[in-house]
Amino acid sequence: MQVFIILSISLTTAFLYARTIWKSMRLIDRDSFKVKLIIKLGIAHLLHVTGLSETLRVRALYHFRASNGYKTILSNTGMAAVYEEALKFKIRDDDVFIATYPKSGTTWMQQLVWLICNNADTNFDKDKPLTSRIPYLETVDVTDNVSLGIQTLERWQKNRQRLIKTHLPYGLLPEDIQSGNKCKIIYVARNAKDVCVSFYFFHVMNILLPHPGTWSEFLENYSSGNIMFGSWFPHVLKYWEKFQTDKERIYFTTYEAMKTDLKGEIVAVSNFLGKKLTNEQIDIIFNFCTFDSMSKDRSTNYSHVRNLGMDFKKSKFMRKGEVGDWKNYFTINENAAFDELYGEKMKDSGLDIPFEL
Ligand code: A3P
Repeated sequence: MQVFIILSISLTTAFLYARTIWKSMRLIDRDSFKVKLIIKLGIAHLLHVTGLSETLRVRALYHFRASNGYKTILSNTGMAAVYEEALKFKIRDDDVFIATYPKSGTTWMQQLVWLICNNADTNFDKDKPLTSRIPYLETVDVTDNVSLGIQTLERWQKNRQRLIKTHLPYGLLPEDIQSGNKCKIIYVARNAKDVCVSFYFFHVMNILLPHPGTWSEFLENYSSGNIMFGSWFPHVLKYWEKFQTDKERIYFTTYEAMKTDLKGEIVAVSNFLGKKLTNEQIDIIFNFCTFDSMSKDRSTNYSHVRNLGMDFKKSKFMRKGEVGDWKNYFTINENAAFDELYGEKMKDSGLDIPFEL
């Protein structure tokens, strides 16, 4: 029986490899990352349906040094080429970047910015998932004919504003931005403990990501920065530092501030983007940005990628949406150790993100 399963997996994998390489080469020959990703999706799906995903999931991470000297950690070697392309990405004056460390409320801010920029018109492009309406700069949209975010953005209509999602650390943003060109950046930070819990469950449910190990192992790797996208600390602190001197271009907020006063954030973001909203529009945006509404909405709850790597039986994308869930996972000792690290890394930063409300 085992021999039969292994043989079927090998044959199907070989078939998928050949088919996806052939298909992708016909689409864009130069794009090896895309080919690899499609193969990975095929294999991940196969492992998932055969129940082997837990045992065979990759654990390796790759240390990456970009051509500008910035170092980070990737979960896939193929991404190095895409990161280099992102550095060269040409920005437009009216581009709006939504930048975050993963699991900090990116999707939430995307929904908010989308509605602000479209005058609270909830019908506009409503059947397209948010992931396609706001391309993810440094990776792919698997629902859009597996198109790289950069390619989608390069093809964007000239007269239509681009809203762009990114998890890139400041040092890896397009050189255009780093050299001061005009655009807007909205950065959302979330308290480091809830990010860790949310990221852990995201690794558990997303079989395309490296295996998270146990909760304690994951926390250890997260604390030391041995995790994809690297450490939370420099990511948040660099944007925070840039925000202090560049408030025209950068708006810095937190997940906790959005939880405390969502309407206030809607107004603040619209002011930052130079958009004037009526009270009625603010109310509409508020209602479309609640956790309840976004969890039910197919265009925001990621249900469209349920069979493309995300296993919703393990954890939902819209998991809990709370502040302070970390208390259910950190042991007393883990919390004490993390507090000590946090105190060291954040001292003198002037940034205070609450761990509970
Ligand atoms: P949890 O896993 O703690 O529930 P990102 O979009 O950056 O990947 O972040 C995902 C996190 O934001 C998840 O956190 C998700 O539930 C939460 N989230 C998304 N939309 C939200 C909303 N409208 N209100 C509160 N939390 C939200």
